[in-house]
Amino acid sequence: MKTLVTTIFLFGAAIAMAQQSDLQPPLRDLAARHDLLIGCCVNTGAFRQAAAGDEPRFAALLAEQMSILTAENAMKPKALVPRRGAYDWSVADAMFDFAERHGMQVRFHTGLWHRAVPDWLEGDDVADAERARFVEQHIQRVGQRYADRMTYWDVVNEPIDPKQPDGLRETIWKQALGDDYLHKIYRWAHEAAPDVKLVVNDYGIWNGGRKTDAMYELVKGMLDAGVPVHAVGFQVHLLGGEYPDPDRFEQTLRRFTALGLEVHVTEMDVAISKYDDDLSPEQKLQRQAEVYRRILEGGLRVDGFTVFQTWGLTDRWTWVDNFIDADDAPLLFDEQYQPKPAYFAVREVLAETAAD
Ligand code: G3I
Repeated sequence: MKTLVTTIFLFGAAIAMAQQSDLQPPLRDLAARHDLLIGCCVNTGAFRQAAAGDEPRFAALLAEQMSILTAENAMKPKALVPRRGAYDWSVADAMFDFAERHGMQVRFHTGLWHRAVPDWLEGDDVADAERARFVEQHIQRVGQRYADRMTYWDVVNEPIDPKQPDGLRETIWKQALGDDYLHKIYRWAHEAAPDVKLVVNDYGIWNGGRKTDAMYELVKGMLDAGVPVHAVGFQVHLLGGEYPDPDRFEQTLRRFTALGLEVHVTEMDVAISKYDDDLSPEQKLQRQAEVYRRILEGGLRVDGFTVFQTWGLTDRWTWVDNFIDADDAPLLFDEQYQPKPAYFAVREVLAETAAD
């Protein structure tokens, strides 16, 4: 599977790349002027179709415009270990091959999460000891296999719950490994992949507040305990019509860079279905563009802001349409891979501030 996918894909992308788009210089070159990696998550279905030559524009646009990729689902435990003890690395390996072929970095998402748990580990009959054994072995396997290929690793995704006394979400992993489970897991990850930057990634922390405070306490506690952590991932899913304040976002990021951490926007998308109905479709896309502009402007003011990723490449492959039953058009490129006002806003910010 892997060899076939890789061969077809690389060949397909090479052809597609021959027809360079007129979006020049590409976002990745503009972002590089800020020491910023720009990218998106890669949908498994789109990747497979591109590999089969059915979606050459997907491969071409991804390789041309982006400098970092994340698997939307292919590197989650549910996808990698569908059956007890049986790993399927094929799609993950093919995505690493594609990234390396096109000079792109890879952010590994994710080591562990309370969702996308393999079915065979979910049942009430599964003992904590078996889950604990799985975690240590899985982190070691992923780390050792990709130690030289991944730049960043979302080792544990979404661990924060500000309603809990210790600020941590109650999960089967916490139950199996104890309250200091994150310290254990990040130490295992660092042992397996000492040169990879380890990230704690969560949603709803971009705008300050209790959840941001809980994330701050978590990573400060990890650093104080000598636990290896190098960055905080701010997912920035803006699905409720939010209109962010770049100054507030900047101040939020600075709390974490003051600890010596990098800060990343890891999963940005901006749904338009919650915008005022009396806005025209064009006005909604303009507002969406302003939202992207404000987050990116806020981030670029901060030393240590090193990654900006959207959660999908084009609207054709967004998860949001399954999550909110609406046509939310949340990304930079539309269903026909055409750049939207949001793309031009991102481009302008990268080009403007690069000139300063
Ligand atoms: O692959 C199976 C398919 O075989 C099956 O027929 C189908 C119907 O059950 O499900 C398919 O798996 C789905 C998978 O996406 C691939 O499409 C899962 O049900 C579905 O739950 C999964 O949703 C993903 C979700 O994470 C849960 O893993 C979304 O695509 C993905 O965009 C979303 O991404 C998360 C980040 O990882 C973490 N941050 C939040 C973000 C949005 O929820």
